[in-house]
Amino acid sequence: MAVTKDPGDATRRSFEAMWSDLAGVGRDPVRGGYSRHAFDDADRTLREWFAAEAARRDLDVETDRNGNLWAWWGEPGPDALVAGSHLDSVPGGGAFDGPLGVVSALLAVDELRARGVSPTRPVAVACFAEEEGGRFGLPCLGSRLLSGATDPDVARALRDPDGVSLADAARRAGLDPDRMGPDPDRLARIGAFVELHVEQGRLLGIEDPSAAVAVGTGIVAHGRWRLTITGQGNHAGTTAIADRRDPMVIAAQAVLAARDAARGHDGAVATVGRMVPNPGGTNVIASSVRLWLDARYGAAADTAAVVDQIVARVRQLARNEGCAVEVAQESASPAVTFDPVLRRRLAATLRVPEIPTGAGHDAGVLGERVPTAMLFVRNPSGISHAPGEHAETDDCLAGVRALTAVLQDLSMADRMSADES
Ligand code: GLV
Ligand code: MN
Ligand code: MN
Repeated sequence: MAVTKDPGDATRRSFEAMWSDLAGVGRDPVRGGYSRHAFDDADRTLREWFAAEAARRDLDVETDRNGNLWAWWGEPGPDALVAGSHLDSVPGGGAFDGPLGVVSALLAVDELRARGVSPTRPVAVACFAEEEGGRFGLPCLGSRLLSGATDPDVARALRDPDGVSLADAARRAGLDPDRMGPDPDRLARIGAFVELHVEQGRLLGIEDPSAAVAVGTGIVAHGRWRLTITGQGNHAGTTAIADRRDPMVIAAQAVLAARDAARGHDGAVATVGRMVPNPGGTNVIASSVRLWLDARYGAAADTAAVVDQIVARVRQLARNEGCAVEVAQESASPAVTFDPVLRRRLAATLRVPEIPTGAGHDAGVLGERVPTAMLFVRNPSGISHAPGEHAETDDCLAGVRALTAVLQDLSMADRMSADES
């Protein structure tokens, strides 16, 4: 075995070991990639993995009342420096979205210790529950509940596609659903939150092709809307085209309306990624269709304007077909600009490009309550939320080094003072 004095080798080996531990968890044999959802079997395995990794490092792990995990280096207390991300995925997602931030935070703790850093403030690695909303539909559920952005009664009543409520799923996972909700004491402990994440587009390459890491500037406003289109269920063979009230036809036009509306606003995106016809038979004209619209653009009012345009078009088309349309907003995420003091500090420490993102993150939710920053790791293809999501190991290790540098800088800092702003 080659003997080397490069301290980075230990980090590389740990990265590869953790990555290979995670590689088999929650693979989706039907969709490809990973399906890891709140409180399912994969999620339980990932939580156990996290607890074991924390224990190996002598970090004290706690599960908060909303199912978020915290591994503490030092006594939990005020002004804590928190790094982390999430372990769940979208249905059929990639390996990096979420786990890269958790693995990197654990490795940053290792690196800080290897450098002999003893932080003057508590440090924690956090994993937030159901960041993708892949099971219960509401993204960043754990951080929203923690920060009070979501009413716990609304959350408890959310149901997964099989009809299981969040309350029941949480109870089966050992949580007390009655205790879910705002956690002001825990929130007050967070002095700063830094989330490292794989980049989910190709802005990093455009900004500076040689850079493996960037600092995040902010997140565009975004939200999810559920449209239920109701027509008349009927026989596919005996119902003349002129006699049909077919909600699938309107759903198909809704997909096109979303594309058209987004095209009309520079930088807007609107997506229908999920559609469920009822009853869903090949020889059956559906009686109703539910479809989910994801729209993202500028500030919240800009996003709402795009959605209004889509909904108005769908309503008009539905009227012509004799169908009805109901619209419910499932989530709203306002535009976020990350804390300017923290951002400036990261930029000064790292000297890397700064980029915005169209993707949602727990950092966006927490950023409304505590100083928050993000780091992005280069994604050569820009593909994300799909099995092809990828980041090179060297770039991931550059991310770990960047996060370590940031945590080292901040871990020695007193509470960031107003005169820095
Ligand atoms: C989460 O990654 C989202 O942007 O929806
Ligand atoms: Mn994601
Ligand atoms: Mn993510």
